[in-house]
Parts: sequence; C-alpha cells; structure tokens
Amino acid sequence: MRSLVSHIAVGLLTAVVMLFFFNIIQKREPKSVDASVAELSALHIPLHQTAVLAPAATATSTHSYTPRIFDFSSIHGLTKSQLEQHEKLYQGYVKKRNEIAKALEAVNKDEVASSYAPLRSLKVAETFSLNGALLHELYFDNLGGNSAEIGPKTKTLLIKNFGSIEAFKKDLLAVASCARGWVMTGFCILDGSVANYLLDAHNETVPVLMIPLLMVDTYEHAYMIDFGINRAAYLKVIWDNINWQSVEDRIDKWASKF
Ligand SMILES: [Fe+2]
Repeated sequence: MRSLVSHIAVGLLTAVVMLFFFNIIQKREPKSVDASVAELSALHIPLHQTAVLAPAATATSTHSYTPRIFDFSSIHGLTKSQLEQHEKLYQGYVKKRNEIAKALEAVNKDEVASSYAPLRSLKVAETFSLNGALLHELYFDNLGGNSAEIGPKTKTLLIKNFGSIEAFKKDLLAVASCARGWVMTGFCILDGSVANYLLDAHNETVPVLMIPLLMVDTYEHAYMIDFGINRAAYLKVIWDNINWQSVEDRIDKWASKF
C-alpha cells in the first residue's frame, strides 16, 4: 500500500513539473507573423497602425506634423488662386512627411544598399518633404510686409555683409534668377556672416550651420498661374512683399545668441 501511494505521489509530482516547463516553453515560443496578422484582423486593427510587422519600430510615433494655416490677406501682387494652390502644395509636403515617418517605422533595416533600398528611398524623400514643408512655412511667413520698413538689426547685418541694402537686393534677385528651388538668406552661426545661398531643391545644396533669415521660393509653381514663366515679374512682387519684421524676429530668436 505504501509503495502504491509513493508511486502516485511521484507521478503527480512529475506531471506538475512537466506542466510547469511546458508553460514556460509556450510563453517563449515566438508568434509567427501570420498568427499576429490573424489576431489583428480579428481585432479589426489596420496593420499600418501597429508595430507587429516592424521589429525595429519605436514606441513613440513621430508622424504627427500638422499643416499650418496662413493668412495671405496682406500679400499684394499675387492672386488668391496662386497663393491657395501654393498652400495646397505645402499641405501635400506635410502629408507626405507624415506618411514617410510612419513608413520608416516599419521599413526593413536589414535590406540596405546605396543603389536602391526601401530605407534609402524613404530617407531621401524624408528630407525632401520635411524641408518642403518647413521652407514653405518660412517663405509664407516672410511675405506680406512693407519692403520699406527694414528692422535695425537686419539693416546692420545686410549693410555689414553687402555694403548696402541695394547691393543686397541685387545679389538676392540675381541668385533667385539662377536658382531652381530656393534662395536662402542665411546667417552663419560660426562667423556671423550673411549670404544668399542657392538651393536647387528642398534637399539639395542646402548649407549647414546656417539660420534662414529670408526664403524666396523660385520654383515655377510659385508664380506660374500669375506670371507664366516671367520670373523677373514675380521676383519684383516678392521684393515688394518682404515682411522685414519676420526677418528681424528670426535674428532676435535664432541669430542674436551667436
Ligand atoms: Fe513652393
């Protein structure tokens, strides 16, 4: 009788131990992608809103950039249609920037090459759309002013670097006539110099360590509706619309500490 009880006790103990280890193994067994997809489908959660298929995804999402609303009422010489079309283009850059940020969370970082890789394509598009959004915000903000009212700090910087406001204007408009994308009047944080830089696209020939004081959009989309291909007429309007207070504010906010 004692032997029977002993055997039953050993059997029960063995079963408990086996159940314990089986439970551990089951918890460690990774779920397959298909299993995860099936679970998500059952929960009606769209795949692009999850990190299940993206092992390298970060916990914090960065695709939450919201397009700004601009008041173009003080801009003269450019029609409402021209400005509204331009604003739609800007909104498109914001939308794409958010899409790219989301796609970067799920991209395969083991598939890499400098000739072509999904990661490479997304990273190139990232700076194009992000700069496309930010440069347009700077541009819209520095329009709608009175070109005759140049702030004291702006005037000092421009005269120091160009000799006169007239010389700065000639340089700005000449560079703008050669650019394919943008002209940026940039303040260098290393030596405090100011110059007009030519950007051939949102993310090409962009100088570093530079604070944008004034942006001029030279893409044809900025003036095609109002002026056709007559860039000179557009640039005259831009000069007459520069919001110098915006430039002065950027010096105060970003450049005065250097
Ligand atoms: Fe533009």
